[in-house]
Amino acid sequence: MNNYITLSDIENLEELIKEAIQLKKENSAAGLGKGKTLGMLFFNPSLRTRLSTEKAAKLLGMEVMVMNADKDGWALEFEDGAVMDSNKAEHIKEAAAVLSQYCDIIAVRAFPELKEREKDEAELVINNFTKYASVPVVNLESATGHPLQALTDAITISELKKSKRPKVVLTWAPHPKALPQSVPNSFAEIMQKSNVDFVITNPEAYDLNPNITKEVSIVHNQQEALKDADFVYVKNWSSYQQYGQSPKVEENWTLTGEKLKATNNAKVMHCLPVRRNVVIADEVLDSYNSVVIHQANNRTFAAQAVLKSLLKK
Ligand code: CP
Repeated sequence: MNNYITLSDIENLEELIKEAIQLKKENSAAGLGKGKTLGMLFFNPSLRTRLSTEKAAKLLGMEVMVMNADKDGWALEFEDGAVMDSNKAEHIKEAAAVLSQYCDIIAVRAFPELKEREKDEAELVINNFTKYASVPVVNLESATGHPLQALTDAITISELKKSKRPKVVLTWAPHPKALPQSVPNSFAEIMQKSNVDFVITNPEAYDLNPNITKEVSIVHNQQEALKDADFVYVKNWSSYQQYGQSPKVEENWTLTGEKLKATNNAKVMHCLPVRRNVVIADEVLDSYNSVVIHQANNRTFAAQAVLKSLLKK
């Protein structure tokens, strides 16, 4: 692995999942990262990604530097050939090259603006870091993807599945804010690479990018989709068609205990943070069915497997 920007950077998904599960069993520091430094830049808030990736790096023996780039760094210019006479003080060309002097791996979180679809899909921030850094770059959630979360989710399903080919349902849920499509995009991608019966359910105005969902079955009736599910992955996302908007939905899409009765006693997943009683009801999050904490714990081992793979290069 040279970088970890999208799921296509994974050479062998099954092997990487096995590696993460093995690292979880060992749960001990290894010397591979000794004398190496991970630099993490956050243009947006984080709890899990920031702390689990730092922990993963430290378990490998690495030093870690973290910067809230949106608050503490110079405003960055990403346009090639820009005349920098406005508020942007530093060009990505210098910023990425300088960071590469201090760090052996650079990791970046940069959410979409959700205003212009083409602009977000160009992945200006993460792609320019990758272009101008001379060290590997890791995606800590970009405009259109969250591959560390998706790897975590595949590890969690692999650990908890009770049948060879479980039914996995990704369901849209309500949220008071318009959220990116990064998590469901990456989840949909990794499920298509996994041995699962995968279904997506969402209101009509919320179909994800068809270039990502491809042949996946999309059901607009949530109750019908949930039938016999072994895993239910709950997530809000804003509309892709009416880009970044939150078209009104009449039905109640919150995942409740009543709705869960149609499933095969499904494990309930969410990447967190989750808005209780909006996205998922208390009775589900507080039940045996919820595996969200197990899932969050796996963030460390997914990150550790990816960092280890990059360090080996
Ligand atoms: N799931 C996830 O990425 O959590 P954070 O936003 O807290 O990092």
